[in-house]
Amino acid sequence: MKQANILVFADVCGERALVALCRQLPALRREYKADLVIVNAENASNEGNCHPALCEALFDAGADVLTGGNHTLKQAEMHVYLDNHPRALRCENLSAPAAGMGHVVVETAGFRILVTSMLGQAFLSGADNPFTACDRLLEAQKGKYDFAVCDFHGEATAEKSAFAHDFDGKFAVVFGTHTHVPTADLQILEGGTAFITDLGMCGAKDSVLGVDTAASIRRFRQGPPLDYIPATGKTVLMGALFTVGENGKTISAERIEKLV
Ligand SMILES: [Fe+2]
Repeated sequence: MKQANILVFADVCGERALVALCRQLPALRREYKADLVIVNAENASNEGNCHPALCEALFDAGADVLTGGNHTLKQAEMHVYLDNHPRALRCENLSAPAAGMGHVVVETAGFRILVTSMLGQAFLSGADNPFTACDRLLEAQKGKYDFAVCDFHGEATAEKSAFAHDFDGKFAVVFGTHTHVPTADLQILEGGTAFITDLGMCGAKDSVLGVDTAASIRRFRQGPPLDYIPATGKTVLMGALFTVGENGKTISAERIEKLV
């Protein structure tokens, strides 16, 4: 029976974490027999955003699609890069015209897999309604893909959960990103959509969301701006493996957490 293993990793938080993930990725691909590897790269740089060299490092290590978030377009070079690299995504539902694309169809394991990156509206700016944007996307892509996977980059747990339930059966997988904190709600909904509110992060284990603990405390005691200093020490790689069956529904889902 035809099936596809989708291996996903949460927000890469800083360049130490990126190096750690890149070192592990070839072995992880083999270990999980991954047909498709998706990494959220929106804050992979030490400045809390992303730039082309970091995307290239992830692709070279074995990532197939990079998903985006609220920081993806902050570096000017990313605009040109996204226009020329269709597997590096920004969010689909940005409210202003933007470089690049928010979705891509990848052919692997005998499937055409639509991967999209959506941005939440709750507590974040710059996004149009992700529900109606997704209605439009799925309608426009009808017939061009066998199943779909969505990275929902959002702050609010309720928004992510409502989205997954609304699109249950229309996506094989909806995984949340952005908060850097993993949630304990990985499940397969009634319609066959695997859902987790947030995957967590690939970042320093001893940190505040991947940021240097002292810098983060300073920010909350003395007020912004935050000195965005990625923390050091051991890196935790958080993600999940989803196995999707021939009918486009998820058969199994497991969280992954590796300390390296
Ligand atoms: Fe984010």
